[in-house]
Amino acid sequence: MLRPPHTGPLAGKKILITAGPTHEPIDPVRYIANRSSGKQGYAIAASAAEAGADVTLISGPVDLDDPVGVRVIRVESARDMLAQVDAALPVDIAIFAAAVADWRVANAGEQKIKKTASGMPPLQLVENPDILATISKHQQNRPQLVIGFAAETQNLIENATSKLKRKGCDWIVANDVSPASGVMGGDRNTVHILTRDKADIAVDSWPVMTKEEVADALVAKIASTIGQQNS
Ligand code: CTP
Ligand code: CA
Repeated sequence: MLRPPHTGPLAGKKILITAGPTHEPIDPVRYIANRSSGKQGYAIAASAAEAGADVTLISGPVDLDDPVGVRVIRVESARDMLAQVDAALPVDIAIFAAAVADWRVANAGEQKIKKTASGMPPLQLVENPDILATISKHQQNRPQLVIGFAAETQNLIENATSKLKRKGCDWIVANDVSPASGVMGGDRNTVHILTRDKADIAVDSWPVMTKEEVADALVAKIASTIGQQNS
């Protein structure tokens, strides 16, 4: 059942969420992509709206309907995503669920690259901006709560802990995306929530759940934390 607008545990809170993959052009007809479906980020947006928040979802290319009651801004590349995230500030809470491409093609062709006798074209890659780290370290407009994801195929907690410290965010939602886990593109997720209080890091490991259940549990945890911080 839908709540009337502006009621619920996150009423009055502005939330920004990124979701899905990014597409990085090689030429006008080709791009680099990844296997992110966007389902987890979309589910979080839906849960947050249901909890009464004012939600902006900045989404890479996905095959999903807009969640009810959510402002959706569609982008293609990592640089477009950063520009839209920046434009959406200030917000109270930011959740970075997108699988942002780490690299883009520096020498992307303005025309379709053709096969030639001289062999395959070399693609030069350059690193994309890190959106989560940029917003976590924002001088004027850092959200009160910044949450990142850590998609790992090995050494999950160790890698997620170093990501939490390196990026300067408050929480990391760590998940195992090894092919055996079936997470990428699937409907279920097993996550571990790492929270940071100054130098102390706590790990809360949740059982396997649907992506909607993970979203509801994450939104409930956010609501109780924000409620405590504001009381
Ligand atoms: N992220 C981002 N911008 C990037 C890369 C990552 O905002 N250019 C965010 C993701 O949305 C996620 C978190 O950073 O919330 C971690 O992403 P991940 O790919 O796991 O981390 P990386 O720092 O890119 O490290 P690696 O891919 O090497 O594990
Ligand atoms: Ca990455």
